[in-house]
Amino acid sequence: MKKLIVLLVVGFVATTAMIAIAANGPENIKMSAKIGDVDFAHAQHQSKISDCTECHHKGTETPKCTGCHGVKDGIPKAKKAFHKQCKDCHKKSGGPTKCKECHVK
Ligand code: HEC
Ligand code: HEC
Ligand code: HEC
Ligand code: HEC
Repeated sequence: MKKLIVLLVVGFVATTAMIAIAANGPENIKMSAKIGDVDFAHAQHQSKISDCTECHHKGTETPKCTGCHGVKDGIPKAKKAFHKQCKDCHKKSGGPTKCKECHVK
């Protein structure tokens, strides 16, 4: 009986962790650009920035920036939106701001 409870607890913890990973999205996101692709360490950023809406400003129900930016009229183009969000925070927090620190060939 004790063994069964242990197994159930382990199973529950593992399942919860898996759901958390799925809801948090990919650990790393490769974004393609002609001058060099950007390797965005999503999970690493999540561990530093606890509030998802700092980036997902319209909420995490619609997590894809490119679902709006560059698709709908009257919304800043994707390049502008990414550059503004990434660089504005980096200027404050000491992250990279030079082209080649993000765009790697
Ligand atoms: C530092 C900024 C930042 C933070 C903080 C952040 N995200 Fe993201 N997230 C992004 C970017 C950028 C993408 C890529 C969006 C795209 O491809 O248009 C993304 C993608 C995602 C995706 C995948 C979207 C898809 O369908 O491909 C999910 C899910 C997600 N984020 C959830 C979260 C959750 C939940 C949190 C908080 C725990 C979080 N994110 C925190 C920037 C961030
Ligand atoms: C903090 C990281 C970061 C820095 C610094 C940065 N970029 Fe970007 N850039 C991105 C991201 C993220 C995208 C979006 C890529 C995508 O949509 O797939 C992007 C998109 C672009 C695009 C559009 C994609 C394409 O192929 O047309 C161009 C052009 C670009 N950047 C040029 C630059 C130049 C030039 C600099 C330096 C003055 C620079 N970037 C600095 C992160 C950065
Ligand atoms: C559901 C649609 C939607 C999604 C998803 C979305 N945005 Fe936006 N975004 C907007 C709209 C609309 C605006 C114009 C101002 C406003 O209404 O907030 C905007 C404005 C911005 C601005 C300000 C631009 C400026 O010139 O001042 C930035 C930066 C930005 N978004 C980045 C992002 C990033 C990065 C993501 C993904 C992590 C994202 N947005 C996801 C709709 C969206
Ligand atoms: C809300 C704040 C915030 C936003 C938004 C943000 N970052 Fe960062 N980023 C950071 C911080 C903090 C660091 C770590 C600085 C350090 O430790 O030196 C960092 C570091 C990085 C690094 C260097 C990683 C390393 O291991 O050296 C890259 C590349 C990067 N960010 C890309 C991006 C891209 C691309 C975006 C936009 C899609 C973005 N970041 C948006 C806060 C942010």
